[in-house]
Amino acid sequence: MDLNEALYTTRAMRRVSSKPIPSDVIQAMLDAAVRSPSGGNAQNWRWLTVTDRAMVSALGELYAQGWEELNATFYKGKKEAAIASGDEDAKRVLSSSQWLADNFDKVPLVVLPYHRNDPSGASIYPAVWSLMLSARSFGVGTTLTTILGLFKHEEVAELLGVPIEKGWRNAAAIPCGYPLGRWGVAKRGPVHEVVYEETWGAEPSWTVDGALWQESV
Ligand SMILES: Cc1cc2nc3c(=O)[nH]c(=O)nc-3n(C[C@H](O)[C@H](O)[C@H](O)COP(=O)(O)O)c2cc1C
Repeated sequence: MDLNEALYTTRAMRRVSSKPIPSDVIQAMLDAAVRSPSGGNAQNWRWLTVTDRAMVSALGELYAQGWEELNATFYKGKKEAAIASGDEDAKRVLSSSQWLADNFDKVPLVVLPYHRNDPSGASIYPAVWSLMLSARSFGVGTTLTTILGLFKHEEVAELLGVPIEKGWRNAAAIPCGYPLGRWGVAKRGPVHEVVYEETWGAEPSWTVDGALWQESV
């Protein structure tokens, strides 16, 4: 697959089927992940793959509870605001997030990256993104989720036997599966609106309208 296609079309693919992901694909995704950089090449990470139905169900239950907690706190009023303002993009994200909360137990694979001894906390995310890009190359959809780590860190650790007393921190839970929908270029604001040139606040001398990589039709 073309690198730019993977970069531009790797979306939060929450609606996925229950079809199992072959072991060789899972291995390739993880192997791509651990090729990524980490500070000092420390590679202070562990990757937990969960396919056991009872375990995924238990994670799903915790995820649904965490999602409710998110809606009652950080996301309070978000749904109502999206409906009131007619913000279709926000409504779509919320409805697909709800779908994941309702169907987490059915996803065929959840990958949970853990990290420790990384003061910046930055070393794990290039690897997470590499895993997601690699999944994309195999037609596997992924979503980077942080709800479990935020709201259910201890419960998840207990369920999966993670020795958090040794400093392991959850970076994400990544549900993976074959998409029910189709891939498309991720919708984002224009790049020139978030870039400054030379000094803070100075608009760049260029503008880019739309995404520079487009699907050929
Ligand atoms: C750090 C981070 C945390 C996220 N946490 C969640 C989450 O807990 N649940 C979820 O459904 N999506 C989560 N997402 C996915 C974002 O909502 C998604 O990337 C964003 O809406 C853009 O979606 P798109 O790429 O499909 O356009 C997270 C993304 C990031 C980068």
